[in-house]
Amino acid sequence: MSAPAKKRVAILISGRGSNMTSLIEAARAADFPAEIALVLSNRPDAAGLDAARAEKIAAVALDHKQHDTREKFERAMHATLVEHGVDIVCLAGFMRLLTPWFVEQWRGKMLNIHPALLPSYKGLHTHERALADGVKIHGCTVHLVVPDMDAGPIVAQSAVPVLDSDTPETLAARVLAREHAIYPMALRLVASGAAGIVDGRVRGGGGASGDLTVPSATPRPSTA
Ligand code: GRF
Repeated sequence: MSAPAKKRVAILISGRGSNMTSLIEAARAADFPAEIALVLSNRPDAAGLDAARAEKIAAVALDHKQHDTREKFERAMHATLVEHGVDIVCLAGFMRLLTPWFVEQWRGKMLNIHPALLPSYKGLHTHERALADGVKIHGCTVHLVVPDMDAGPIVAQSAVPVLDSDTPETLAARVLAREHAIYPMALRLVASGAAGIVDGRVRGGGGASGDLTVPSATPRPSTA
């Protein structure tokens, strides 16, 4: 019996595209259930576009500033996705809010990666806010996209420890390493059909990972 056809994936980016690269690398495996058919950016200067082209992947820039309204921009984006026969959309650092119309076109087929353990820390500046709150565990989430921001059913999460010595940059780097691990895992779960929505929650395949080992016990800082 022949293997089921791979799902065709578009990755939407606005910047450096390190999550994009982790998905491209994972999709090279013969048994990966998805292939990267397209990288699309709303910013023509996104570094990720060149990285995708270097991998011989179709890379399209659709500058949102060239469209008078969000709807026109999204209709152009949707047409490009359809033209490339896309089955699944992965948002990876795509910095445009999406309208309910666009989200509806891709309902159940659009993933996003967020640098926090949702439902905590929706929105921007997640690492700064986690440090300010003094949380001890932080991480990242891959979820299906719904009209509300950072709110859809959770496919996969990974946890990291927050260290006393952390700055937003060191914490971001620890979380980013986990992002690069769970996005391919989550795409595999969704593209293969191992995970699916039951009663509004993603079930199947397991989606938890993380390492909460603290490198070494740190002494309490002096308050003097
Ligand atoms: C990542 O931290 C991701 O979680 C967030 O935007 C950042 C994109 O980074 N949504 P990159 O472009 O994938 O390197």
